[in-house]
Amino acid sequence: MRRISIAIDGPAGAGKSTIARIIADKLNIEYIDTGAMYRAVTLKFLRKGIDLDNDYDKISNILSYTDINFEKGKIYLDDEDVSEEIRLPEIGKYVSRVAAMPEVREKLVKLQREIALKKSVIMDGRDIGTNVLMNADVKIFLIASAEERARRRYTELHEKGIEVSFDEIYKEIENRDYIDSTRKINPLRKAEDAITIDSSNKTINEVVEDILLIIRNKCAGC
Ligand code: CDP
Ligand code: CDP
Repeated sequence: MRRISIAIDGPAGAGKSTIARIIADKLNIEYIDTGAMYRAVTLKFLRKGIDLDNDYDKISNILSYTDINFEKGKIYLDDEDVSEEIRLPEIGKYVSRVAAMPEVREKLVKLQREIALKKSVIMDGRDIGTNVLMNADVKIFLIASAEERARRRYTELHEKGIEVSFDEIYKEIENRDYIDSTRKINPLRKAEDAITIDSSNKTINEVVEDILLIIRNKCAGC
């Protein structure tokens, strides 16, 4: 099989990472969670006490010695496994502001493209189909209602023992949707050639099957 690339974009809680991970396993290709990369950079900035509005010089400097790697489903920030910590609500609060910074996007998009040049990938995020992998073999735009996305996130966090109210989660999701879709650089947008799937009333398996069918049709010769 030749090297293939699959892009999945959409708002928070649409099911991108859950579904991309399952498809990666089934097709035996690499899953790249680009949101985790923006979360890892946010974690680093918060740990260093960066003032996101004013410390521009410090931000560029920190990025110049920031290393991000994926290995066996884990994400490493400067060789430290931060897979759990980046999911904390505190990171969710700041990540969209960090992801709107041109220097941050420039660095992470470059890394994402380098990864996709080396192997077959399924990559999820906000600007994969419109920017990172414009020539992806398959582009999916995965959506769900904000209510349903907040409900999913609420269940997920409560299962992990993290106490956050539904209202707080709903507001964070709405706020992130707004910043992500209105920012100047590479906002969340459906690529013209992407196929939209609404997962609001679909199970994970149903969405996986829908996408596998699209991949089989589009990549018949891959
Ligand atoms: O998992 P969840 O949907 O909460 O979000 P995520 O995929 O972990 O992404 C976290 C944040 O990173 C998003 O809200 C965006 O602000 C940013 N992001 C981005 O700007 N571009 C991407 N390709 C991926 C994420
Ligand atoms: O990556 P993204 O933020 O788009 O969403 P996710 O983290 O994959 O999914 C958020 C939560 O919704 C997870 O707990 C999934 O198990 C759940 N989910 C669901 O209940 N039904 C779906 N069709 C897709 C995801």
